[in-house]
Amino acid sequence: MLNKSLDLDKAYGEPANGSSSIVSHRHPNPLPPLQDRHGRTFDYVRIAVIEQCNLRCTYCMPEEGVKFKEKDMVLRSEEIIKVVEVLARMGVRKVRFTGGEPLVRNDIVDLVAQSVQTPGVKAVHMTTNGLLFPKYARDLREAGLFGVNISLDSLTEEKFEQITRRPGLDKVLESIDLAVELGFPRVKINVVLMRGFNEDELIDFCEITKDKPVTVRFIEFMPFDAHQIWETGQHFASAADLCGQIEKNYSDTGINAASGTRTEHHIYQVPGYAGKIAVIPAFTRSLCGNCSRIRVTADGSIMNCLYSEVPYQLKDLMRNGGSDDDIVGLFRKAFDDKHKDGFESKKAASVAAKINVSDISRSRSSMTQIGG
Ligand code: GTP
Ligand code: 5AD
Ligand code: SF4
Repeated sequence: MLNKSLDLDKAYGEPANGSSSIVSHRHPNPLPPLQDRHGRTFDYVRIAVIEQCNLRCTYCMPEEGVKFKEKDMVLRSEEIIKVVEVLARMGVRKVRFTGGEPLVRNDIVDLVAQSVQTPGVKAVHMTTNGLLFPKYARDLREAGLFGVNISLDSLTEEKFEQITRRPGLDKVLESIDLAVELGFPRVKINVVLMRGFNEDELIDFCEITKDKPVTVRFIEFMPFDAHQIWETGQHFASAADLCGQIEKNYSDTGINAASGTRTEHHIYQVPGYAGKIAVIPAFTRSLCGNCSRIRVTADGSIMNCLYSEVPYQLKDLMRNGGSDDDIVGLFRKAFDDKHKDGFESKKAASVAAKINVSDISRSRSSMTQIGG
C-alpha cells in the first residue's frame, strides 16, 4: 500500500471564518491539552446534536427507527456551546457536528455560527446525509462552516432507496455539486462499502474525483446495526482489500499517496484528477494509534472511543450546576480511562456487560447514539 503524508495542519484547514484576523486560534485563557496515557492529544470533537434522522439506512437503524431520546434529554444549544468553549480552552481546534442528521435540528446554523466564533476553534465541519443541505447550504457557508462530509452509498436510485429506505439520490447529488459551487473548502463523500451490494460501484465513485474537487472516502462497514445486515459479516470488505482494488485499477496512472486527515488512513490522488480517494479502516482500526477524537453524544455523554460503551455523564453534570472546572475534570477522567485502541475498548465493554465480545457492538441499537 502507498504511504501517505499526514498533513494535519492542512487537514484542519484555514480558519473556519476564512480570516485569521477575526478569531484567534490561540485561546486567550488556555488550559493544558487533553491527553491520554498512551501519549495521544485530543484536539477534535465530534458532537452529535440530534438522534433523529430523515433516512433509515439499513446499516444504521431499523425501519421503525430506534427509541430516540426525549427532547429534554438532548443537549440544548447553550450547553453545546459551553462544551465547545471549554474544549477550545483545552486545545480543541476542530469541531464536527453529526447526528442522526444534524440538519434536522432547527438551531443548527446558529450552532455553527457560534462555534465558528469561539476563540480557539479553527474549523467547524458537519457530517450530513445531504437531503436538507440545499435548503441550508448558503446560510451554513455564511456562518463559516468549513467542511461538509456527505454520506452517499450508491449512485443508482434503486440501490439508494434500498439502503436508505427513502428516495433522494437526486437531492444528495445536488448537495455535492452545491457544496463545491458555494466554495466550501472541504467537500467529502462518505461511502459505506458493502460487499455484494455497492462494491461494483467502487470505480464509479472514484471517477467522481476526476472533475470534482472532493474526497471520496470508502468506509469499512461496522457491526453497529442492531441485528440487521451485519450478522454474518458477508458484506464486509476490508480496507486492505479496497486499497488493493483501487491501486490495481489505477496502476497505469501512477496513482499517488496524498495527504489527508487522521481517519483517511489510506489516501490517494490519481494524477490529473481534481479530488482524492480515501479508505477508512473503521472496523480493522489501524487508525487508533493516531486517534485525536472526542465524542459527545446527543444526550450529553462523553465517549472516549467509537467502540466504547462507557458514557461519562456530561449533561447531568452541567444541569446539576457543574462549573467549567468540573467539565474539564470529567473530560480528563474520560480520557485518562481511554484504552489503547478500539479492540481494547470493545473488550472492556464486553467484560463490563458480561457478554461475549462478538456481541458487544450490537448492543448499541444505532450509530445515531454515538454520532458516527
Ligand atoms: P474528516 O475530519 O473529514 O476526516 O472526517 P471524519 O472521518 O473524522 O468524520 P466523518 O463523520 O465523516 O466520519 C466518517 C466515518 O469514519 C465514521 O462514520 C466512522 O465510520 C469512521 N470514523 C470516524 N472516527 C472514527 C474513529 O475514531 N474510529 C473508527 N474506528 N472509525 C472512525
Ligand atoms: N458502518 C460504517 N459506517 C457507518 N455509518 C453509519 N453506520 C455505519 C456502519 N454500520 C456512517 C455513515 C456516515 C457516518 C456518519 O457514519 O455512512 O457517513
Ligand atoms: Fe440517518 Fe446517517 Fe443513520 Fe443513515 S447513517 S439513517 S443518514 S443517521
